[in-house]
Amino acid sequence: MINMNKEYVDKITLGDSRDHIPLLADNSIELFLSDIPYGISLDDWDVLHNNTNSALLGQSPAQVGKSAFKRRGKPINGWSQADRNIGLEYQQWCDDWAKKVLPKMKNGASLFVFGARRTIHRVVNAFEDSGFLLKDILAWKKGVAHHRAQRVSIVFDRRGLEAEAETWNGWRLGNLAPAYEPIAWFMKPYKIGGTIADNILEHGVGAMNVQDCQSNGASPTNILEFGFGKGERRIHEAQKPLRLIEFLIKLTTKEDQVVLDPFMGSGTTAVAATRLNRHFIGFEIAPGFHQAALQRLDIECGTSYTEVCQLFQTKLFEKPEEKYGELTNGCT
Ligand SMILES: C[S@@+](CC[C@H](N)C(=O)[O-])C[C@H]1O[C@@H](n2cnc3c(N)ncnc32)[C@H](O)[C@@H]1O
Repeated sequence: MINMNKEYVDKITLGDSRDHIPLLADNSIELFLSDIPYGISLDDWDVLHNNTNSALLGQSPAQVGKSAFKRRGKPINGWSQADRNIGLEYQQWCDDWAKKVLPKMKNGASLFVFGARRTIHRVVNAFEDSGFLLKDILAWKKGVAHHRAQRVSIVFDRRGLEAEAETWNGWRLGNLAPAYEPIAWFMKPYKIGGTIADNILEHGVGAMNVQDCQSNGASPTNILEFGFGKGERRIHEAQKPLRLIEFLIKLTTKEDQVVLDPFMGSGTTAVAATRLNRHFIGFEIAPGFHQAALQRLDIECGTSYTEVCQLFQTKLFEKPEEKYGELTNGCT
């Protein structure tokens, strides 16, 4: 299978994955693992809808100088119909590329798709509509839960409503501390009338390696508790812990199989796959993150992908900087 995707295997290709996925060989991928944009407008790369409201990314005059209110400052209720269309437009975006992924996966292969608690149902709808089956929704239990829930009494105090502030003392606005993130686990269906055991024999996927994924001698559950390792370098604002990604790869693939991540960010999936002797195919649209991911691979896996991939890119797009802007280092 590796030869079928020769130009893409063990490379992070700079570009829009939606243009490249159709060029991959059919039935060639054993695992899809991606921390996709969540559609919550976390940053420019996460804006996947037509809402041009300037308040969305902290650009409205009312937000200037107010960092707490800068991003995702809007109430769930929204300020306009455009806010309420965001969910559906995000689903359409997912649907567009999920359909392209389907023929590339082997029958019975797993797909782990990271999402936000408030938008994961859109991912599930898009993937089901594209032909995948939902196996489970795993919970990644995060070490730290950043939380802001405004006190109602303070809001009323500011309005001079002393009695109301007293009545509502102890109440807050917003949500409970977000201690987990969902990971939707899908499977590409196998032949109707066949069995999963037949499928494992034919395609080499469909089972879980529980033995190698034990935690303290016990089988893993669907609550995954993994934090960043000591000294693990943080490059991307949405970066995931290496140990979490390694766990998911080990759980569902054997050595030499191929993992596809079309939204690589800082390259966590590529590093994890390489360390576990799996192959990877990766894409990243932002030149800064692309460059940072290549450098990370070189540093953490002793590769020379930075050089190899730049040569490859130059071949694909004659002047990559014209198409994607200057190649700058996106490390923060
Ligand atoms: C949530 S982040 C991934 C972070 C990653 N898990 C890590 O550990 O660093 C998603 C990434 O997808 C990239 N992206 C968004 N749309 C893309 C597209 N159409 N093709 C390729 N990459 C894209 C963004 O630039 C962003 O870096």
